[in-house]
This record gives sequence, structure tokens and C-alpha cells, in this order.
Amino acid sequence: MSKKLTIALQKGRLEKDAGKLLAAAGYDTSFLENKERKLIFETAEARYLLVKAPDVPTYVYHGVADVGFVGKDVLQEHDKGYFEMLDLGIGKCKFAVASTPEYAELDHKIKRIATKYPKTAEAHFAKKGEMIDIIKIEGSVEIAPVLGLADAIVDIVETGNTLRENGLEVFEDISEISGRLIVNKAAAKLKRDEIFDLIDRLSEVI
Ligand code: PRP
Repeated sequence: MSKKLTIALQKGRLEKDAGKLLAAAGYDTSFLENKERKLIFETAEARYLLVKAPDVPTYVYHGVADVGFVGKDVLQEHDKGYFEMLDLGIGKCKFAVASTPEYAELDHKIKRIATKYPKTAEAHFAKKGEMIDIIKIEGSVEIAPVLGLADAIVDIVETGNTLRENGLEVFEDISEISGRLIVNKAAAKLKRDEIFDLIDRLSEVI
């Protein structure tokens, strides 16, 4: 008998595109159109959890969700305890170092980097042999260099509009980001058929 999958969907940035992809793969995602404040949805084929992006790997790691749709940006900060199975080709953007035009990129002093993504920032500057001070910011990080709180930011750039509107520019590209399908390690065995059916159907429409 077919076992029902529990699927964690990242709320916000990826939600719409993940819904479209699932719908194209033949899954009923009509609940996304009129969900109001509800967070768990049951369809004939699957159960869906709508959760904040950084919580998707947590739910998948603990097995509360069998699979999750989540951005690579989030996975780079939570990099253990699941299988990353598929690049979904949605939510394409990049990590970049950005700042005001005055940013002294080649200056050898320890830079203060504001970011919501400390591991990504640390790894990027460590690769260049640079030590940095991280200032952890949860959002609207673009104002940190403008107000002198940081020398630069490490953040997601999609259209570049947020940077432009706040007088910042990209100094370095770090890495490409897109949505990924992650899978709980036990579920990969126990619900193998259902998970591979999902992967096959998604692969056809990506
Ligand atoms: C991200 C990022 C930038 C913006 C970039 O924020 O932090 O602020 O998107 O997009 P753009 O290049 O198209 O302007 P997000 O919308 O994910 O929300 P957050 O500020 O809560 O992280």
C-alpha cells in the first residue's frame, strides 16, 4: 500500500514556485490559493506543512516531514542530517558581497560583515584567507553599511533592486542559489517508492 508523504514547504520566497512545480507534477496544491493562517494541509496524496525557511531542514532532520522544499541559501547554514536529492531550478538567485561604493574591498583590516548567513560569510572570507567580524542581522541587512554598522553585507541578490534602492553595489559573487528537494534519511528507505515517485514526477517538469 502506498504511504503518504509529509512535505515541508518553505513559506515566502519559494512557496509559489514550489506550488507551481508540484501542480505541474500532478499534485493537488489548490490549498495554497486560499490558505489564510492554516499551516497543515491534507490532500489525497500527501500532507503539507508550511514552515519558515530555516525550519524546513529541522523538520526533515527530525522526520516530522519526509521531504522538504527549501532554498540552497538555507541549506548552506544548516548543512547536516538530510539528503539533498534534487535541484528544483526555482528561486534562482545568488549570494554576494555588497556595500556602498566606498567599500575598501582590498583593505587588509578585519572587516565587519553584516549578514543573516554567518556560515556562508565565514566560509567565503576564510577561503580568501581573511578574518572577519560577523554582525548577525535578521533582515533589512542593506542598511547596515549605509549606517556604518558594517563594512559590507553578505546577502541574497535576486533582481538587485533592493541593493540599488539602498545605494549598494555587488563587489563579489559568492555562489548560485536555487530551491532544492531534501529528504529525511530514514524516509529515504522506509518510503523509498513514494519519494522516488515524487522525484521522477518533479524531474519531468523541472
Ligand atoms: C532577500 C534579501 C534581499 C532581497 C534581495 O530578502 O535579503 O533583501 O531578498 O532581492 P532583490 O535582489 O530581488 O531585491 P527576502 O525577501 O528573502 O526577505 P528577508 O529580508 O526577510 O530575508
